[in-house]
Amino acid sequence: MSGLPPPQIGGNALQALDVDGDSGFHALQDDFPHDQSLADVDMDDGDSALGDDTASETRSITDSVLGYEYENGRRYHAYRAGKYPMPNDEAEQERMDMQHHIYLLIYGGELCRAPLPARLNRVLDVGCGTGKWAIDFADQHPEAEVLATDLSVIQPHWIPPNVQFEIDDAEEEWQYHSKFDYIHIRSMGGSIGDWPRLMQQAYDNLRPGGWIEVTDFEAWATTDDNSLPADSAYAEFQESLSEAATQFGKVMNISPQFKSFVQNAGFQSVVEQQFKAPLAPWPKDRRYRNLGRYMNVQMLDAIEPYSLALFSRVLKWKPERIQALLAGVRQDLGNLNYHMYSVVHNVCGQKPLA
Ligand SMILES: C[S@@+](CC[C@H](N)C(=O)[O-])C[C@H]1O[C@@H](n2cnc3c(N)ncnc32)[C@H](O)[C@@H]1O
Repeated sequence: MSGLPPPQIGGNALQALDVDGDSGFHALQDDFPHDQSLADVDMDDGDSALGDDTASETRSITDSVLGYEYENGRRYHAYRAGKYPMPNDEAEQERMDMQHHIYLLIYGGELCRAPLPARLNRVLDVGCGTGKWAIDFADQHPEAEVLATDLSVIQPHWIPPNVQFEIDDAEEEWQYHSKFDYIHIRSMGGSIGDWPRLMQQAYDNLRPGGWIEVTDFEAWATTDDNSLPADSAYAEFQESLSEAATQFGKVMNISPQFKSFVQNAGFQSVVEQQFKAPLAPWPKDRRYRNLGRYMNVQMLDAIEPYSLALFSRVLKWKPERIQALLAGVRQDLGNLNYHMYSVVHNVCGQKPLA
């Protein structure tokens, strides 16, 4: 590491706390050719049904962006359909909003960990989901223009004037007209096939001195006391999920690699912070127990969206088999003798000034 000091940890962040409550930290357009002006085009030339064609073209574009696909009782995105294996329905949107709240609990009420300057011009939030982070960030930084992108149109209409939502596939070539001061990428494990390329595009689209922040939970529960039996439903669930996501081409448990991705893209002053988040309210420490309550609700809502499409499309499991496993997973998540926690990896890095 070199350059600027590491990002400051807010006084209320959970990083330094001990899940068990004793010492250590062990448990926690236009379609005209551009060389042809309108004056050169004969309005009566060609097919008289032009109006109909235009309408149907417009309709198909709109459907592909605003439409939905349904499978196993859940609703999925239609733009670039099939790319992202999780639903985008109301239930999933509520889960995303709860996860936003969980990040705030973990970060002691802060929205981010990067040591940002007081004034920012342009900010990009990649894969913004319901847009909660982008909206909150824009409120806190009225001087900044916040662009937030996603495959799904699930963002609200009443938003701060300095936020703009765009439907975009982050895995395509980025075409932004000017560079950003800060790029935020959160909870995108299982969404991206080629992380080094994503990091490179972020690097290329930051101005010198700009910051990247990449965060996600590990999609793998850990215990410090081996309290989760190897033959438990939860253990089978996470092994199957990992296998299915890898076969799908988008590794789910990717966050332990974030630091090396950010470093390898050329960023400097790279700092990783790790935060433990219990999956149930089993810790003795009051703050971790509270976090565990939220995590438990969020996990109970997450197991179906995470697994349904991957288990049925990739592993070819029948719905009955999926639901039988999920019933066992729900029981395991309610078992306070299983001291499961996940680790949040937060990595910040700065594009060199020269
Ligand atoms: C788990 S959600 C996280 C949302 C948000 N970042 C947050 O932290 O609340 C992942 C989001 O990434 C979006 N996504 C997945 N693949 C994407 C892609 N290739 N381009 C843009 N967005 C994508 C999904 O539509 C979904 O809204």
